[in-house]
Amino acid sequence: MNTQALIDTATAMVADDKGLLAMDESTLTCNKRFAALGIPQTEDRRRAYRELLVTTSGLSDYISGAILFDETIRQQLQDGTRFADALAQAGIIPGIKVDTGVTALAGHPGEKVTEGLDQLRDRLAEYMRLGARFAKWRSVITIGDGIPTRACIEANAHTLARYASLCQEVGLVPIIEPEVLMAGRHDLARCREVAEETLHLVFVQLSAQRVLLEGMILKPNMVLPGIDSSGPATVDEVAEATVACLLRTVPAAVPGVAFLSGGQSPELASARLNAIHVRFGDRLPWAVTFSFSRALQQPVLAIWRGDDANTKVAQQALLQRARCNLAARRGTYQASMEQAGCLT
Ligand code: 13P
Repeated sequence: MNTQALIDTATAMVADDKGLLAMDESTLTCNKRFAALGIPQTEDRRRAYRELLVTTSGLSDYISGAILFDETIRQQLQDGTRFADALAQAGIIPGIKVDTGVTALAGHPGEKVTEGLDQLRDRLAEYMRLGARFAKWRSVITIGDGIPTRACIEANAHTLARYASLCQEVGLVPIIEPEVLMAGRHDLARCREVAEETLHLVFVQLSAQRVLLEGMILKPNMVLPGIDSSGPATVDEVAEATVACLLRTVPAAVPGVAFLSGGQSPELASARLNAIHVRFGDRLPWAVTFSFSRALQQPVLAIWRGDDANTKVAQQALLQRARCNLAARRGTYQASMEQAGCLT
């Protein structure tokens, strides 16, 4: 294991106030988002959309790394350049989603475990050859009546740690994503309790599997009330609960925490990241940034709609969101940037 290379990559992934672009939707998820907008669900349209994202001029001013899906890392831009090479040439570190999705956890109704450990060592070596320098694995924890169980959290924590250890063996920085889902009626306090237990058990397992904390990135959810909760939380309450949860559970040796957006609107995701920095910026031992998919891409896809005539305007929307989130990471984001457009 080349420890220094892992540390250098992980540090570069969260450097200079930049964040990560998650563009690793599985074919199923990508097709669902295309279908909702009437975009043909073909390999060519998925490729064209991903080309739009990675060829956005100036993206590397805000984005340090991009997470690809297996289909994309094997595809090429129209000019024949492979996606991972196009990213690297643009100054963006290429990454790859390596889990193969979630499945029902046997004996635990309503709970999920993530699959993909079989043959993972060989798959990671191939992704490394294809140009990836980091990887991502997402686990999901569902809050509901009597769940999550400790068994579900432990199964996912163990799986994340096995994945992370295999990544580091081959030289890939693991992004560790234990997502506590926003679906449900639970309140902010319940989300915080579950997120705290989850992160605690994840770091117990990472330690047991000898994962180098300095060579990984944590991708957690923000601590939020459930989408159907009767008690909404203010931006400041979310910032406070999120930071308290992370400070209790995430060792300072971890170089970066990069949030998923989890179904928040793009504007709220930026406002909450901003509040975390405004209120607690001087207390955070890790770089705290974004690794959003929907909160970066939603407006982009809505403008593009499968029509290449809309590519330039859609790229401006991506730059706008990326720039708003870089500002949020600096604690200088303001709602007025949305009306005026962050690019002006
Ligand atoms: P969202 O930001 O849309 O939650 O996606 C992040 C991600 O990478 C999911 O695995």
